[in-house]
Amino acid sequence: MTEKQKITLMVNGSTETHWVEPRRLLADYLRHDVGLKGTHIGCEHGVCGACTVRIDGRTARSCLHFAIAVQGSEIETVEGLSEDGRLAELQKAFHAEHGLQCGFCTPGFLLTAEEYLSENPAPTLDGIREALTNNLCRCTGYVNIVKAVARAAALPQVQEDANHDR
Ligand code: FES
Ligand code: FES
Repeated sequence: MTEKQKITLMVNGSTETHWVEPRRLLADYLRHDVGLKGTHIGCEHGVCGACTVRIDGRTARSCLHFAIAVQGSEIETVEGLSEDGRLAELQKAFHAEHGLQCGFCTPGFLLTAEEYLSENPAPTLDGIREALTNNLCRCTGYVNIVKAVARAAALPQVQEDANHDR
């Protein structure tokens, strides 16, 4: 067995120190060592986006990073979006617009959408669609996810677009 190495990361504002094998993926580290199950593992090939987290402020696929490679980094997972157990506005919008069914893809969509909205506070619907193309959902058909992000951005076109999609 490969010798374990000690790593320390900041995860959602808390210092986490663990001994991990060099081959430990960041996604597995977060789920099994830190115990945060909101980061989901779908493809393990960087395709589906279910494992999306933020590394030092930028979204990244946690299945494509070894935990030891991000030693010393600040990591934010979907659990870091809510404060004191209260849902963030984007999470409320997903709930209100039925932007999730099984919820497997949702953590990745939330982090991707949050980053997009922080950089594009007045997006267009096409802009939202393009921003979400890196994430896959098997349940919702994307319409409600786009509506949820538009709702969080308070886009007036949401109703018009919903009518158009019918
Ligand atoms: S599990 Fe990482 S992109 Fe699919
Ligand atoms: S809500 Fe089920 S995969 Fe997206």
